[in-house]
Amino acid sequence: MVIILLLSLCIATKNYEVYGSMPNLYKSEDLALDEHLKALNKAPIKTIHTEYGRIVDCIDINKQLAFDHPQLRNHKIQLKSSIQDTKPEAMKRDKSTRYSNFGLNEKDSCPNGTIPIQRTTKEDLIRANNFGTLAQFDRGSHFAGLVMKHRIFFGIVGTINVYNPPVGDDQMSSAYIWLSSGVINSSMPNYVVIHAGWQVYPGMSGDNLTHFFISWENSIQHTGCTNMLCPGFVQTSQSIFIGAPVKNVSIYGGAQYSMSLNLTQDPNTKNWWLKAQDMDVGYFPAALFSNKLNFAMRVGWTGHTKVFVGGTSPQMGSGHIPDRNPRHSSYISKLYYKDRFRDDHIPLKDSVRVYADNPNCYNANYYGYVDNILQHAMMFGGPGGNCGL
Ligand SMILES: *[C@@H]1O[C@H](CO)[C@@H](O)[C@H](O)[C@H]1NC(C)=O
Ligand SMILES: *[C@@H]1O[C@H](CO)[C@@H](O)[C@H](O)[C@H]1NC(C)=O
Ligand SMILES: *[C@@H]1O[C@H](CO)[C@@H](O)[C@H](O)[C@H]1NC(C)=O
Ligand SMILES: *[C@@H]1O[C@H](CO)[C@@H](O)[C@H](O)[C@H]1NC(C)=O
Ligand SMILES: *[C@@H]1O[C@H](CO)[C@@H](O)[C@H](O)[C@H]1NC(C)=O
Repeated sequence: MVIILLLSLCIATKNYEVYGSMPNLYKSEDLALDEHLKALNKAPIKTIHTEYGRIVDCIDINKQLAFDHPQLRNHKIQLKSSIQDTKPEAMKRDKSTRYSNFGLNEKDSCPNGTIPIQRTTKEDLIRANNFGTLAQFDRGSHFAGLVMKHRIFFGIVGTINVYNPPVGDDQMSSAYIWLSSGVINSSMPNYVVIHAGWQVYPGMSGDNLTHFFISWENSIQHTGCTNMLCPGFVQTSQSIFIGAPVKNVSIYGGAQYSMSLNLTQDPNTKNWWLKAQDMDVGYFPAALFSNKLNFAMRVGWTGHTKVFVGGTSPQMGSGHIPDRNPRHSSYISKLYYKDRFRDDHIPLKDSVRVYADNPNCYNANYYGYVDNILQHAMMFGGPGGNCGL
């Protein structure tokens, strides 16, 4: 029963869109939601009330939701990545970047052997259940970013400055790093993808804050998920939790706050480890991807907006078309990828493709080396508006 519920949510969230106000529930639906919540929310060892009004539970690391996934039944948890830290010198020297805080405050971090998980509420599930319904009203996604493809990749790295663009209830605005393999082919889907970054998505989070988010999808098995609404991602961090609100955001023309992200495959386990702000958050187990992510075939850095029921598209990033000025433009800086030899490389201008599907609304530009703080950076964003489908 529980598995069916979890899997059905997995499928429902495949398009990972949420939206909607609270409908009146029939009693049977209400009971089903309660049952589902019981399956999602594991027994807390410690409970924390965050300043944002949400509850975060410290739960036993070995009893986290991920292990309810059928493919992870006999999974042996990997507590630490075995990847050698070969961070380039230029990255180690950087002391000038201001990093946003997200996750638990230091004094609140979870006890050893436990991890923080935001408690899922009935409202979260009702919004999530509307994913499927709403997906058919997906009135258009827009992207502006940088992609590298037709190669073998073992990692992608970038530092994104974080904004809090105004986003309506039926809109989404985000920026992330991503990697994928396979092709989108409706007659024979074999596409797998991982995303990590920030998003403003009231239909999902129930607020207009900027949140740290992850998502993954395996179109072969019709599974996938955003954040921790269904089993998949294995969290190891005692302080950063998935879906956490980002406390410090950039101001146009003023201070810039950043989120550094590093997604790298562990050569021994083939799990994809995610680091945020230089700390291990956890990993996407290899078993989720039907052997399709033994390496990635594409990696990218992008801004993405979405609108569901029509109308105008929201701002992307800072809301301004990139002008090379780091106080004006949203950017993903310190770009690196790991090649087939697992060495870190800076993307060369002639090996990337810059894309923006509607340059009047949003644009992207790869400037190469900008300065010693940003190093190699892609800038993106724009005001949105009537951007078409
Ligand atoms: C990303 O993290 C991996 C694993 O720790 C490390 O080997 C790599 O050097 C990091 N890349 C960058 C550019 O920091
Ligand atoms: C928790 O684990 C860390 C790292 O292993 C250790 O340094 C620390 O003393 C432990 N804390 C407690 C309260 O056991
Ligand atoms: C977010 O919502 C709050 C409360 O509804 C509102 O005061 C604030 O202006 C909103 N912020 C943005 C950026 O839309
Ligand atoms: C999609 O899959 C079908 C069935 O295997 C194949 O015939 C077709 O060529 C594929 N299309 C693309 C674009 O790969
Ligand atoms: C980040 O935001 C938090 C919470 O609002 C605040 O306490 C902290 O001082 C901010 N940090 C910086 C560096 O501005």
